Amino acid sequence: MPESSRATTTHRRLLLLCFLSSSALCFVLSEPVEAEEEIVSRSHFPDGFLFGTTTSAYQIEGAYLDDGKGLSNWDVFCHVPGNIKENGNGDTADNHYNLFLEDIELMHSLGVTAYRLSISWTRILPRGRYGEVNPMGIMFYNRILDHLVLKGIEPFVTIHHHDIPQELADRYGGWLSPLMQEDFVHFARICFESFGHKVKHWATINEANLFVDMAYIRGWYPPSHCSPPFGKCSAGNSDVEPLIALHNMILAHGKAVKIYRQEFQGKQGGSIGIVLHAMWYEPLRANNELDQQAVTRGLAFGVGWLLDPLVYGDYPSEMRLFLGDALPRFTVDEMDYLKGSIDYIGINHYLTLYAKDCLHSSCAPGGSDHAIRGYVYTTGDRDGVPIGQPTGNARFFVVPGGLKNIVNYMKQRYNNMPMYVTENGYAPPPGEEVQLNQILHDVKRIDYHKSYLAAVASSIRDGADVRGYFAWSLMDNFEWIDGYTVRYGLYYVDRTTLKRIPKISALWYRDFLANSSGNGLDLTQYHGRLEQDLRVAGLEDL
Ligand code: BGC
Repeated sequence: MPESSRATTTHRRLLLLCFLSSSALCFVLSEPVEAEEEIVSRSHFPDGFLFGTTTSAYQIEGAYLDDGKGLSNWDVFCHVPGNIKENGNGDTADNHYNLFLEDIELMHSLGVTAYRLSISWTRILPRGRYGEVNPMGIMFYNRILDHLVLKGIEPFVTIHHHDIPQELADRYGGWLSPLMQEDFVHFARICFESFGHKVKHWATINEANLFVDMAYIRGWYPPSHCSPPFGKCSAGNSDVEPLIALHNMILAHGKAVKIYRQEFQGKQGGSIGIVLHAMWYEPLRANNELDQQAVTRGLAFGVGWLLDPLVYGDYPSEMRLFLGDALPRFTVDEMDYLKGSIDYIGINHYLTLYAKDCLHSSCAPGGSDHAIRGYVYTTGDRDGVPIGQPTGNARFFVVPGGLKNIVNYMKQRYNNMPMYVTENGYAPPPGEEVQLNQILHDVKRIDYHKSYLAAVASSIRDGADVRGYFAWSLMDNFEWIDGYTVRYGLYYVDRTTLKRIPKISALWYRDFLANSSGNGLDLTQYHGRLEQDLRVAGLEDL
């Protein structure tokens, strides 16, 4: 049976089930976010489509004081007891700083064609622009890039992924200050100069829209700013500060891109874009016009907030309407260089939530009735039924159709400009993986990647210009405030020996990339191979 008709049959079956049942499950199945048909193989993607894994510097490198590296805001934040679960920190992380050759070998053995990494700002510029460039930092990334190229793995480099020099946090409160723009441009310039001839894909900033939420609305990430009802922090204003911080990040992006295009792009031939946190929404009250409007607003306040200025030169009109003068304004000159300042969109996708209108309806307290949230209340469940399978993050659920929907939305809103799924991954709910044996036999992670890859393949068939997919993450790593308690890796990392051990999802990804699997997957095959790998590595007693 051809693939497309198989997909249709499945859909029809779901509808029929729905028709015969009046249970809540019926609702889940009948949502427009219905599960994609999980038939997927590498051959469903265009030639040259990048298949990768992804990490970020602070989450894996460790060596936080080695070879001239300066202190970052995360180094300092993690050393305050109670900030991170089980008092974890990135001091050693996965010791990728010393084990990067082994890690590149792992990627090579998987057969990935690309690797998305980020640069630690303080390894290159220990004191931001108030000090010298650290040659050891430059050498470290050059060695990584050289080895990737040698192994035929395309580097996809994010310049900034959450960690800023502590010096800049101390001097001017980080991204709240417009001075950060010049610091970022200085950092970016050094990256272009030092690595640009080896990098064909640059991303300026990772998930600026999520970062400002975590750092300036909820106060969970440094500098821990927030105000009631969003949280209790010693400083901050959740209604205003995120708008200022994101404004500075957008301008920093624009200025860095301007320099890249004027001075480097021509001779280095790379592309430059940005990575955003892109979640999808479904109306909480099905067929309710107000909640449908809440979905539209939620997307404008989530996606449009960051991307509209970079494509069209200004914030979405809905944001101006509800936020008024609290939303900063761009000058004509700024609009000019911001407009069209991305060559592609990097989509980090992990979740779909229900959205409820709070403009005309009453909503639970917590901030949804504030303009900064677009007067949208979001939740992962409807009448106690989760929107998808729960995961290790209380707000992330498995809803593969959400990725297809968000890609489609980007395609419409931004004229189908090139897109990469720069992050997508699964961590199991707490308590599900306790024994090593359970951690390694991660069948749910395989199902997850299969179903989301199927969603991407389906979007491409529908005409979306998606050019790559990066699994978060290569290996278990420091999961920000969750420390090491939440695991996204294809490889398990033993926290004592730092040995990397493949989970069966790594074996599956390897087979998927070799085009020999994907469906009709015989899991026993992987269980057997894993036991054999462990025996060979002398780890069978683990
Ligand atoms: C971030 C990663 C993080 C992942 C899983 C993304 O928002 O870019 O750094 O580890 O989500 O939570």
